[in-house]
Amino acid sequence: MKSLPNRFFITGTDTNVGKTTVAALLCAALDAIYWKPIQTGTRDGADRATVMRLAELPRRRALPEAYRFAPPVSPHLAAQRAGIRIDLRKIKLPAIAAHENLIVEGAGGALVPINSTQLMTDLMSHLGLPVLLVSRTALGTINHTLLSIAALRAARLDLRGVIMVGKPNRENRRAIEHYGEIAVVGAVPLLKKINRATLLRVFRRNFDRKVFAP
Ligand SMILES: Nc1ncnc2c1ncn2[C@@H]1O[C@H](COP(=O)(O)OP(=O)(O)OP(=O)(O)O)[C@@H](O)[C@H]1O
Ligand SMILES: [Mg+2]
Repeated sequence: MKSLPNRFFITGTDTNVGKTTVAALLCAALDAIYWKPIQTGTRDGADRATVMRLAELPRRRALPEAYRFAPPVSPHLAAQRAGIRIDLRKIKLPAIAAHENLIVEGAGGALVPINSTQLMTDLMSHLGLPVLLVSRTALGTINHTLLSIAALRAARLDLRGVIMVGKPNRENRRAIEHYGEIAVVGAVPLLKKINRATLLRVFRRNFDRKVFAP
């Protein structure tokens, strides 16, 4: 029997935690298509271009965003400043073959607003994908990670695991698994060079093959 494709929504405990790096790693390891439906801060570059470069993805495997805004602010605010409202009905996964793996990246964290009544968790529910939570390894991560897990579960999302980025910290990892009743399914150490080869090596060494079946 052919297994289901690997399709995940990547959220984080914060902006700048390493979602794009993890997305590039999974795109390389799983030969997945990448999509970031809402991108703000395009004046500083877009995550789509970063993933294409890091994972060495051809342009056709990094789908265009549904919404793009130049200012580096929350989506609800960026849209408001642009005089529009982000509408979930307009965020539709472009047609891709049923067998294709897919990595979708959110903006910021789980409770980031996208309009006056909806949050990033509503986008996750709308897309109906299992969720992975990217968190830091450093001090403060237990609180941020447990809060994010609580928010994702309150929204009845299918949280599949946490991926920790940064200098390994065994105590923090254990605490998150214990108090969050969740598995840490991947770990990305600090990398001097981030490229396809180093990301693939990290996947082979530090990611749970039961969760990601390439
Ligand atoms: N394992 C790592 N080793 C070294 N640097 C890293 C690592 N992971 C991420 N970084 C760096 O940290 C910064 C933030 O990472 P990244 O862009 O992946 O975060 P993000 O959560 O996607 O941010 P955003 O909220 O803007 O989408 C980047 O400069 C990235 O190169
Ligand atoms: Mg990103």
